[in-house]
Amino acid sequence: MRYLITGGAGFIGSHLAEALVARGDDVIALDNLSTGRRENLAGIGDDVELVHGSVLDALLVDELMARSDIVIHLAAAVGVRLIVERPLRSLITNIRGSENLLEAAHRYRRKILIASTSEIYGKNQRASFREIDDQVLGSPSVSRWSYSTSKAVDEILAFAYHRERQLPTVIVRLFNTVGPRQTGAYGMVLPRLVEQALRDNALTVHGDGRQTRCFCHVSDVVAAMLLLLDEPKAEGDVFNIGSSEEVSILELAKRVIGATGSRSEISLVPYDEAFGEGFEDMRRRVPDTSKLRSLTGWKPSHSLDGIIAEVVSDQHTRKAEQAAWR
Ligand SMILES: NC(=O)c1ccc[n+]([C@@H]2O[C@H](COP(=O)([O-])OP(=O)(O)OC[C@H]3O[C@@H](n4cnc5c(N)ncnc54)[C@H](O)[C@@H]3O)[C@@H](O)[C@H]2O)c1
Repeated sequence: MRYLITGGAGFIGSHLAEALVARGDDVIALDNLSTGRRENLAGIGDDVELVHGSVLDALLVDELMARSDIVIHLAAAVGVRLIVERPLRSLITNIRGSENLLEAAHRYRRKILIASTSEIYGKNQRASFREIDDQVLGSPSVSRWSYSTSKAVDEILAFAYHRERQLPTVIVRLFNTVGPRQTGAYGMVLPRLVEQALRDNALTVHGDGRQTRCFCHVSDVVAAMLLLLDEPKAEGDVFNIGSSEEVSILELAKRVIGATGSRSEISLVPYDEAFGEGFEDMRRRVPDTSKLRSLTGWKPSHSLDGIIAEVVSDQHTRKAEQAAWR
């Protein structure tokens, strides 16, 4: 099979490409290299064709769709900082880009998997989220909610294409996904804390640090996506993907210091200072993945400490490679 992965040179996209090539499939990666990097695909070789272009280019999307059998749509403006700083670009990329992909998938009758996010649940306060739970958001005048809103529009469009046009769609709501090759440059917490620790800089933790998250290894996330794509009963439906090992961000920072042997201290930074006035964060974000597990048998296989060790080792390797280039 030939898979088209939009955002294929990004963090998750490059791991997906690697997994598909390893099982004998061909991959076309469409990426504008805004947050992704060509080097992310360097280890895979000739089985991936990287096309440098945008999902906003409808003609290009049409051409690549015609040459592919299945589509995985990951390209998006990602990360809270990017979205707060550039809400307009985020909205256009996430909404128009998905519209282009769904339209073209419909034109050629291609199965399409769309990456959504746990941000869909907004500030809903449930202890753990099921796919049917409410989207609870603040005012549309607050940029923070534009990411959640744009991904909700993507989901609604995908559901509509499935119901009205019988397009085979699958939606996945990803919770915090981490692992090698993720960059801290756009505010993603684990790689950023590891970068700070390796430089012996203070580890910056937002708010009181008692907010909790669940971190899932990217290879577990990729495995779940592939299981869902191979399962006809997943079509027309939405699935949470994430780990349920919950950790506070303060505890995460302490474990990163332990894993790196760093001399860094932890510095608490108020949300207003980090993201501007009025920023709201969620205290907890725990997925209920029973729907995914009962359909596919999936469960995550990596512990948080194992993941931290891998991210530290990945950053050591990258630092050494950069030093060798200089
Ligand atoms: N990493 C997470 O924790 C997480 C959580 C929830 C949802 N997601 C979703 O997973 C997907 C992949 O995220 P990621 O973590 O790999 O981030 P990433 O930034 O590494 O990947 C996004 C990729 O899309 C590319 N891109 C952006 N705009 C584009 C455009 N107009 N045309 C073509 N390519 C474009 C970027 O260059 C990048 O390679 C995104 O849709 C994101 O919303 C990720």
